[in-house]
Amino acid sequence: MNSLDPQIVIVEMRGQLTQNIGRVLRNFLKVRPIILSPEKAAAYIETHSVRGIILSGSGNSVNDTNAPHIPASIFSQWYKVKKIPILGICYGMQWLAAFFESRVANIERLREYGPSRITVISTDVLFYKTPVEQTTWSDHSESVLNPGGAFRIIAVTGVGGVAAIASHSYNIWGVQFHPEATQCEFGEQILRNFVIEICRCTSNWEPSSVVDLIRGETVEAIGKRKVVLPYSGGVDSSVVAALLAPVLGNRLVGFTFDGDHLRHQEGVEIAQHARICRLHWEMIDLKTQFVNAVAAASTDGEKERNAFQGVYVSGIRNRAKSFDPDSGQILIAQGTLAPDVIESGETGGHRVVGHHNTGLEKLLPEYDFLHPLQELFKHEVREIGRILGFPQSLSHRHPFPGPGLFLRILGIVPTHELLELVRWLDWRVREITVAHGVYDEISQLVTAYGHLYMHGVRGNEPAKGCPALIRPFKTTDFMTGEPYYLTPTVMSELSRELVKDKRIGRVLFDYTPKPPGRTEYK
Ligand code: XMP
Repeated sequence: MNSLDPQIVIVEMRGQLTQNIGRVLRNFLKVRPIILSPEKAAAYIETHSVRGIILSGSGNSVNDTNAPHIPASIFSQWYKVKKIPILGICYGMQWLAAFFESRVANIERLREYGPSRITVISTDVLFYKTPVEQTTWSDHSESVLNPGGAFRIIAVTGVGGVAAIASHSYNIWGVQFHPEATQCEFGEQILRNFVIEICRCTSNWEPSSVVDLIRGETVEAIGKRKVVLPYSGGVDSSVVAALLAPVLGNRLVGFTFDGDHLRHQEGVEIAQHARICRLHWEMIDLKTQFVNAVAAASTDGEKERNAFQGVYVSGIRNRAKSFDPDSGQILIAQGTLAPDVIESGETGGHRVVGHHNTGLEKLLPEYDFLHPLQELFKHEVREIGRILGFPQSLSHRHPFPGPGLFLRILGIVPTHELLELVRWLDWRVREITVAHGVYDEISQLVTAYGHLYMHGVRGNEPAKGCPALIRPFKTTDFMTGEPYYLTPTVMSELSRELVKDKRIGRVLFDYTPKPPGRTEYK
């Protein structure tokens, strides 16, 4: 095993939290995992040596006909022939139990959601350094009943269900709860016990070594081909650019579409960021095409995103063709991150929102894609940006969604004029929060225009105006998050500034957490 090779295979059974397992392993245990579908895991484990296997949770029931599964012949290879330690989490444990012929059933009384108490009833290395009574985090409707054969129950739930099982003869463990959830009190220790104590992994994940690793792997995958990079100027696509540009030189081109959806002075900033990454870059003017397409999609967010994506995809195709008209030997690189993949339902979980830049493979089937960052979370990519020498303004730039200002116009079809208005609102809000030193405290600051007339007064006259919405949002992984509360002084200055435009009658501050809110409004 090469010192940077993945040590643990996480088998993706289509769970919402699978990427979090990877995150805990990398960030806290310093161990590099690889997340693979059951089919890909089978192929990978056949040809690589790995120290452990984790079966993820899932939105499915083991009793569903299309539930994710591992063929018996392959699973037997893993635990019987190769004798690789295995941990099943939630659905992963249920799948293991069903495989060894225990019953898995939907019993109302045993269901759990959220914080859940467990009691450890048998000394086991999996619970090493954790107390007998502990709070975990669960989300399951089905439960394992009477695991038998080689399995022992090592912990029970507060409602009398099976919380954890072990078979030392097979080197297999299962937990009904989610140790990878941040809310699970001793989750990190439990994963540590599996990964370090049981699988004997050693530390091999440090962001500095990861730069060389990702660059090496990506450049190898590219071979002699050319690469186009749709470039937003944000930290994700900049990391991809900075990894590839020094090696590929003229074989890489980056471009940004101006669909009239960019922020004040953003073109200048993107050009500057491209220079930092040494990327050959150009801005392509598609203002009319984007605005016409999004406007034709009514005011429904998902339809607007699809319309945006349509123009985006044909823009990429055109640029790829002009970059390499003959050979078709071209790749499209993207700075897709783990949360984009999860929330778009690409891992098979529930679709929360379609991102304009996920699922492009289906829309551009004639090209091969590269997603060098797709197993990473935002803060990990920022750390890599820092190692690559990015200034703080780039490595910590607030994320800005691909469809940009189109997502900030609510309840009315977007026009150039309204885009100009939200561009101004966004700019003023950024300037004021920067001046008060709070902008960098916020993870993402969303300013939107809501087309909803409200009554007010201007001078002595009755007046009608629409609200500007300000959403200061704080998060580390963008999967969940909390509001960032502005002080009354900042709020009052913002309100007084934004109503200077007569179309704005109110300024509303949005302090909804995610969930149930999202960062963006659509
Ligand atoms: P939500 O609104 O789902 O956003 O909480 C999570 C993060 O994703 C960004 N976002 C997008 N980024 N294309 C992108 O590149 C998109 O279509 C898109 N939609 C949302 C959002 O701004 C936040 O940072």
